[in-house]
Amino acid sequence: MVVFENVGFRYPGARTAALEGVSVSVRPAELVALLGPNGSGKSTLVRLSNALLSPTSGRVTVDGMDTADEDAVWDIRERVGFIQQNPENQIVGTIAEEDVAFGPENLGVAPAEIRVRVDEALEAVGLAGFQRREPHMLSEGQKQRLAIAGALAMRPAYLVADEPTAMLDPVGRADVLRALRGLRHQGVGVLHVTHHLEDVLDADRVLVLASGAVAFDGTPGELVGDPERALGLGIELPAEVLLADALRRGGVRVPAGHPSAEEIAEALCLS
Ligand SMILES: Nc1ncnc2c1ncn2[C@@H]1O[C@H](COP(=O)(O)OP(=O)(O)OP(=O)(O)O)[C@@H](O)[C@H]1O
Ligand SMILES: [Mg+2]
Repeated sequence: MVVFENVGFRYPGARTAALEGVSVSVRPAELVALLGPNGSGKSTLVRLSNALLSPTSGRVTVDGMDTADEDAVWDIRERVGFIQQNPENQIVGTIAEEDVAFGPENLGVAPAEIRVRVDEALEAVGLAGFQRREPHMLSEGQKQRLAIAGALAMRPAYLVADEPTAMLDPVGRADVLRALRGLRHQGVGVLHVTHHLEDVLDADRVLVLASGAVAFDGTPGELVGDPERALGLGIELPAEVLLADALRRGGVRVPAGHPSAEEIAEALCLS
């Protein structure tokens, strides 16, 4: 489990803390979404989870290892995979299989085992058969899935992804979201930073940061069911949720939660 215990962080020379009193956790096989406005501390929290930063106060542990313990840093980075926003920055190989093999090669994994891991990782992100493709010829969404495969080949227990879909078109975005969702079935705990609640409606939990503190820790359903609260947290709700909420207030009997466009149309026809 990745555990933040009353964590504070201040960048050197900064007047205010980027994070303060943050206590959150990510379990194996759990998909946790992290939302919040620009500058609320999401990327800082991500960097603290894989020992790129050490907390100024409090403690961050990964399966019991303290990220402030310098001897544990490499074990922690092996355990916590990291996906950035720009897929271009993450490509290291000239063909896909070389790219995915890079991490395990650095870990000293045996070549036969690397072969197995590369094929499994590409399959897990929907890129089976792409072994010999050149990464720069792939779409942005495929590049991002290649980056996820590269992280998976290290057999991480957790994956933190900082706005992995921000630079993708709708198709690339949907493919990457599907790949991230699939990781739960492989037992990988995922922390997914995004600005879109719509991307993470199926998350096990949603955390919302506001000015460096946790303003919400609950299920996506709780946010969707309380549009006023979501809006207060600066969260953009899916269009159907807003429409359903407005219709309900106008007396139309729309199903609770997040109804589909069809369900809304049906409710309107029956009213
Ligand atoms: N390297 C840095 N040095 C100093 N201050 C920083 C640094 N990086 C971030 N900050 C500050 O820390 C706070 C949190 O920033 P952070 O990047 O974690 O926010 P974020 O939620 O990821 O924002 P965004 O949605 O724009 O990516 C902000 O006030 C930011 O200006
Ligand atoms: Mg950020």
